[in-house]
Amino acid sequence: MFPVSDIRDLGRHEADGAAVRGWVQTTRVHGRVAFVVVRDGTGIVQCVVVQKEVSPDLWQLVQELTLECSVIVAGAVRADARAPGGFEMSVQQLTLVGASEDYPIQPKEHGVDFLLDHRHLWLRSSQQRAIMRVRSEVEQAIHDFFHQRNFVRIDTPILTGSIGEGGAGLFPVDYFEEQAYLAQTGQLYGEAAAAAFGRIYCFGPTFRAEKSKTRRHLTEFWMVEPEVAWNDSEDNIRLQEDFVSYIVERALERCRDELETLERDIAPLERVKPPFPRLDYSEAIRILQEKGHEIKWGDDLGAPDETVLAEGFDRPVFIVNYPKEAKAFYMKENPDDPRTVLCDDLLAPEGYGEIIGGSQREDDHDRLLARIREQGLPEESYTWYLELRKYGTFPHSGFGLGLERTVAWITGRPHIREMIPFPRMLNRLYP
Ligand code: 4AD
Ligand code: MG
Repeated sequence: MFPVSDIRDLGRHEADGAAVRGWVQTTRVHGRVAFVVVRDGTGIVQCVVVQKEVSPDLWQLVQELTLECSVIVAGAVRADARAPGGFEMSVQQLTLVGASEDYPIQPKEHGVDFLLDHRHLWLRSSQQRAIMRVRSEVEQAIHDFFHQRNFVRIDTPILTGSIGEGGAGLFPVDYFEEQAYLAQTGQLYGEAAAAAFGRIYCFGPTFRAEKSKTRRHLTEFWMVEPEVAWNDSEDNIRLQEDFVSYIVERALERCRDELETLERDIAPLERVKPPFPRLDYSEAIRILQEKGHEIKWGDDLGAPDETVLAEGFDRPVFIVNYPKEAKAFYMKENPDDPRTVLCDDLLAPEGYGEIIGGSQREDDHDRLLARIREQGLPEESYTWYLELRKYGTFPHSGFGLGLERTVAWITGRPHIREMIPFPRMLNRLYP
């Protein structure tokens, strides 16, 4: 009996041999020798079958192995720098666990709709696996960053009656006799928790009924949202710089192989260090107008505007103090220019656009109520939120970072749909 090993750990089994369990990636038969590359998620190993060393049944079975069938292979193990994965196994035993006839994804070009229809299988391919590993590392880095700084993780509800980011883009849900929505943000609940713990973050799926088909929009995406009591807008911006720099550094440190698989040029990522440049919104509008963009003071920035603004910088850039009417109801008025609010968007370089939206929150009860009314939001469902301003109100700030946009930037991939295991978009609920 050979001991079962992850492919990653085969180096420990050069003396006794090992059994590995996985999926067949390629097979090549050269006369009386066959080469089978097996993948188990921890690595790949080249398995060599020599006809005269195995039974006729085993040799026959090798001829029948097809792309993505599942197998258990066992035999002697030795390091071989030329073999894919760095190890070679001399096969003595082989079991076919699950056949795979006519695997739909073949080593050739497929259209993206075809691949998305087969996302449940596409996830097995090397670039998709590299992306998911970067995503997983970034998620862990997010938790580590906040844990190290004594933030309490708060899980905010997904079903809510309080609209977080305005009426557009809501998914309504029948909630018995009431109207509920899928949460667009956990922020409002995070603000309540900030008064209990000082520093909190939430991290979970959020939902926007985005009718736009762009490479930056999903209808279900993951957002991490810290909320910090006593932080003003300036503190908030510094926290974002440290946070984004930390995540990028972790990916560079622990995902080298994955970034190489994805052919990501890492030089631009290595420059991501605080401080990040800042542009006032009004300055941004001036720059855009000079470059001939059809935009006027008061408009929100579109994706092409963001790309052009970020082009001038070698690291992420903050756009600060947007006009009130372009932003959500909860942002605090800028005392130096009441037409604007104390907020920032962080634009990633290389055309990836907004990865963070953040702000200082309106902590004055009457001003907040006035904003809720101005935006025509249902006042009754914000009673609890307004009470946070009645019982010990406090200056506080926070932000939301979109996980998939961040991973798209770090991996250097053009489209956000590959950044989540099973993307949800305007025309996609399958698989
Ligand atoms: O700027 P947004 O709408 O901000 C908020 O939701 C605040 N409540 C955050 C806060 O202050 N706590 O969204 C934050 C980020 C965006 O910068 C973007 O990265 C991402 O969420 N995002 C999306 N990602 C993918 N698909 C979409 N449809 C997204 N909409 C926003
Ligand atoms: Mg935003």
